[in-house]
Amino acid sequence: MAEARWSGEQRCISLRVNGRSHEVEVPVHATLATVLRDGMGLTGTKIACDQAACGACTVLLDGRSIFSCHLLAAQAHGRSVETVEGLADGDALHPLQAAFVEHDALQCGFCTPGMLMAIVAALRAHGTLDRPQLIAAISGNLCRCGAYPHIVEAVLSVMSGARDLT
Ligand code: FES
Ligand code: FES
Repeated sequence: MAEARWSGEQRCISLRVNGRSHEVEVPVHATLATVLRDGMGLTGTKIACDQAACGACTVLLDGRSIFSCHLLAAQAHGRSVETVEGLADGDALHPLQAAFVEHDALQCGFCTPGMLMAIVAALRAHGTLDRPQLIAAISGNLCRCGAYPHIVEAVLSVMSGARDLT
């Protein structure tokens, strides 16, 4: 785990991240997004607005998508977190990641981790996604590059397969 350079009042919390248990010292005021990135080296989770407005920091908390910039890490104590780093199986991309590549569903890629995690959460809730469900699922995730048509195309392209996408 990366060495964090925290100062100020701290607290030790337990987190299960991508299936692995961790004990982490975190500042009481630090957000989950900051701790994932700066404390654990999981920089796939992005911080853009830092005020729960863009979805770049979306991760799963106990299976539900949340904006990790809007939750104190201490509030995640004892809970399970999934980040984009947990999607791939070794060198094999998750089918959704592969579809994003195949359909050119990103430009800068800054929104991509959050988009993927929001889509995975919706897939777990619905089993599969039709176009309206998909659009609703990513309605809290902004793409400044305007890649939305390709993102929708990519996700719908894998909906008919028999693979487990969650
Ligand atoms: S960085 Fe968290 S919602 Fe924008
Ligand atoms: S690909 Fe650049 S913000 Fe979405």
